[in-house]
Amino acid sequence: MKSADGQEEEQWASRHGFLLAAIGSAAGLGNIWRFSYVAGQNGGASFLIIYLVCILFIGLPIVIAEISIGRNAQSDAVQAFHHARPDQPWYLAGGLAVIGCFFILGFYSVIAGWSLKYFISALTGHLSETQDNSTFFSLFIAQPVEPIFWQAIMMAATVAVVAGGIQKGIEAVNRFLMPILVLIVVILAAYSLTLDDAGLGLAFLFTPDWSAFTRPAVYIAAIGQAFFSLGIGMAIFLTYGAYLPKSHSIPGAAATIVAGDSLLAIVAGLAIFPAVFSFGLNPAQGPELAFITLPELFLLMPGGRWLAILFFGLLVGAALTSMFSILEVPVAYFIRKTGRSRSTVALALGLIIFLLGAPASLGYSVFDSATMGGRNILELYDYAISNLLLPLGGISTALFAGWGWTKAKALGASEFNDKLSGRLWLFCLRFIAPIFIAWAFIALSFF
Ligand code: TRP
Repeated sequence: MKSADGQEEEQWASRHGFLLAAIGSAAGLGNIWRFSYVAGQNGGASFLIIYLVCILFIGLPIVIAEISIGRNAQSDAVQAFHHARPDQPWYLAGGLAVIGCFFILGFYSVIAGWSLKYFISALTGHLSETQDNSTFFSLFIAQPVEPIFWQAIMMAATVAVVAGGIQKGIEAVNRFLMPILVLIVVILAAYSLTLDDAGLGLAFLFTPDWSAFTRPAVYIAAIGQAFFSLGIGMAIFLTYGAYLPKSHSIPGAAATIVAGDSLLAIVAGLAIFPAVFSFGLNPAQGPELAFITLPELFLLMPGGRWLAILFFGLLVGAALTSMFSILEVPVAYFIRKTGRSRSTVALALGLIIFLLGAPASLGYSVFDSATMGGRNILELYDYAISNLLLPLGGISTALFAGWGWTKAKALGASEFNDKLSGRLWLFCLRFIAPIFIAWAFIALSFF
């Protein structure tokens, strides 16, 4: 298909391809690395319940809103908001997303690089030769060059795929990787559940400690995780939705994406917590859980080397399919703005993003004295992104679709039309999401 200016207009080859790419974007390091450490620090089951409620009443409505805005305009983040409401400055919400994606991907690519390092070390047997994994991790991270090298490789792979375009790049790779990733996580969970004290891990994940419900910090962690894990507020689904043909239903697609993402987080939890508990380890380790505690575990288990290969392979693949989506947001915008080719834009942005991420990596070596409130640079990125940037993007999207767009247009573009579910959707966007997010912001400033 050609657009008015003669450029090749891109579209997903099928609804199935769009769904795989969107689930690929949602399911990433957030579901495995971040979910396990945040759930571990915030009491497991109680956190999981609040997280799922946030997903249902805030996450799902915002995913529907993002896809609707994108598909309606068939354009990038900035232009899509402008198209929907040219008389008001909502395009700023699109601008925030474009800029936000630079920082998110910069930080994300660092952790993705660690995952690749561990995957390769597991393959070559280095990981299983090391007896003390906290030394393995600190030796790796304390040298400035090597982590940046792995980060660069992950960025290069992302640029290569995004440069290939929607169908031939992003959709094709997701079609190949996603089934493999699902298979791996199911195998790991099945294995973990056969361990002796697996029940302790299940209890941690599914038996709530009711006192946790009175702690605001748990709510803040849950909403931050819901935003990060779905990848909402940064126009990802808006941008992917712009390549969706008009004939596909949006609410159904959004429900599939949200269900797929949450299911993957829970199955990843089923792989991780039974193992952690059955070896008597502490789940509240913080960001190092996946890189210190789990490798230590793999050493203790029969066939641990294979488990490590599978686990870190899963992390690398899941990270990649998310990285495509984060790069695509600014790429779509700058292709339109500069008129340059997709490959040129992807390469240039990839380079800038790599440079933005590098300080987070160096925060463990040359910049290790640069901390704020006990957080190093990478932890500051993580904190600012999940607790400030994403909620800010999310609240703008919710306010726009709920109030800015006008009721008739929002209901029409999302295809809810006059259904009761459509009114429920608008209610979540108008009241539940903004109030809850605003409360979390205020509560956050008191901690
Ligand atoms: N959701 C992905 C994960 O769980 C990461 C991700 C993709 C993301 N797109 C995003 C995070 C946009 C924040 C914003 O790993």
